[in-house]
Amino acid sequence: MTPGTALVGGRGMLGGMTATPDDAYSPGSHLLPHVHALPRYVPGARPEEGRRVVKLSSNEMPHPALPGVAEAAAAATTAAGRYPDMAAVDLVGALAERHGVEPDAILVGGGSTAVLETILRATCTAGDEVVAAWRSFEAYPIAVRITGAELVTVPVDDQGRHRLEAMIERITDRTRVMLLCSPNNPTGPALSRTELVAALDRIPRRVLVLLDEAYIDFVTADDPTDGSSLLADHPNLVVLRTFSKAYSLAGLRVGYALGHPELMGGMRAAATPFGVSAPAQAAAVAALAQQDEVRRRVAEVVAERDRLVSGLRERGIDVPDAQGNFVWLPLGERTADFATAAAAAGLLVRPFAPEGVRITAAEPADTDAVLALAEEFLA
Ligand SMILES: Cc1ncc(COP(=O)(O)O)c(C=O)c1O
Repeated sequence: MTPGTALVGGRGMLGGMTATPDDAYSPGSHLLPHVHALPRYVPGARPEEGRRVVKLSSNEMPHPALPGVAEAAAAATTAAGRYPDMAAVDLVGALAERHGVEPDAILVGGGSTAVLETILRATCTAGDEVVAAWRSFEAYPIAVRITGAELVTVPVDDQGRHRLEAMIERITDRTRVMLLCSPNNPTGPALSRTELVAALDRIPRRVLVLLDEAYIDFVTADDPTDGSSLLADHPNLVVLRTFSKAYSLAGLRVGYALGHPELMGGMRAAATPFGVSAPAQAAAVAALAQQDEVRRRVAEVVAERDRLVSGLRERGIDVPDAQGNFVWLPLGERTADFATAAAAAGLLVRPFAPEGVRITAAEPADTDAVLALAEEFLA
C-alpha cells in the first residue's frame, strides 16, 4: 500500500499509516479531474415500451439487416465460446480490396467511435490540442478530453459548414490533431474535394488530420470528398468509416480507419484486443458483399432526405445543405418546444437546445409526418 491510498472500510492505522476516514471517502474521487468534467454523450431518444413511435433520433437506417447478414452473424455465434479472430483477417481483407489499400493500412474496431478513441489515445495527451468544428459529432469532446488533451473548437458558419481557414489558423505548436467531419453531424454539409485538398496542402504534416466520413455514402453534392483517394499523397491523413449507417449495422458495432501502414500499426498496438466480435466481423463481411442493395437503400433514404429539405424550406425553415441521412433545423430557442411537439406526435427527434433539431431521414411516411408536424408547429 502506498502512502495516501484510501482504505475502504476505514480500519484506522495500518503499518503506521493513517487511513482516510470513511466519511471523507468518495468512490468518485478515483476519477481524474478531467474525467469528472467530461460532457455526457446523450443518445437519441428511444421509444417507450408499448407506444408506437418513430425513432428519427439516431441517424439509423430504417431497414432491417441486409440480406445474408443476420444468417452470417448467427452462424458466427455458434462459436461464441471462442475469442474472435483478433486480426479480423476476412473483414480487413474485404475492406483492403474495396479501398485498394494494403491490409496493414486498416484498423477495425467496435464502431468508428471506438476507432476514433484508439487513435486519439495513441496520438494525444495532456497539454496537446485537437482542433475541430463545432457544432459537430457529440462524441468528439468526450473522446478528445479523456486523453487529457484540449478541444479547440471553431464554430461552423451560418450554413453549418466547417470554416477550414479559421480552423487552420487555430493550429499552434501544441496541435496534434485536426478533426474534420464530412458530412457534418448534425448540421449536414459535406466538404468538397477541392476545399479538402487545399486544406490538406496547408495543414503542416506534424498535425494528424482525422476525417470522419461516417455518412459518405449519402453524399450527392458535386465534387464529393472521398478521403480514401487522398491517403497516398497525405500520410498525415486518417479516414474513419463505419458500418453503422449505410450498411444498416449500428447494433453490431463495426467501424474502421484507413491510414498510412506505419501509423496504423501503432494504432493497432493501442487498440482493445478482440475489439470486434465474431458475429460483427461476419456480418460486416456479408454486408460488404451487398453493394447493390446498399446503394438501393441509400438512394431511398437520400430521396426522403431531399424531400425533407425542400418541404421544410418551403415551410420557412432555413435547413442547410443536407448530405448525410439527416436534416438540421436551426430552430434556436424553439428547439426544445419542437422536440416536445414531435414526441407528442409520436416522432422522436434529436434536439440540441438551444441550437437546433436533427431529424433522421427514413421512410416516406416519416417524411410526411415530419412535414405535417413542421407545418403545425410553425402555424
Ligand atoms: C459523424 C459520426 N461519426 C461516427 C459515428 C458513430 O459511428 P459508430 O456507430 O461506428 O461508432 C456517428 C454516429 O452517429 C457520427 O454521426
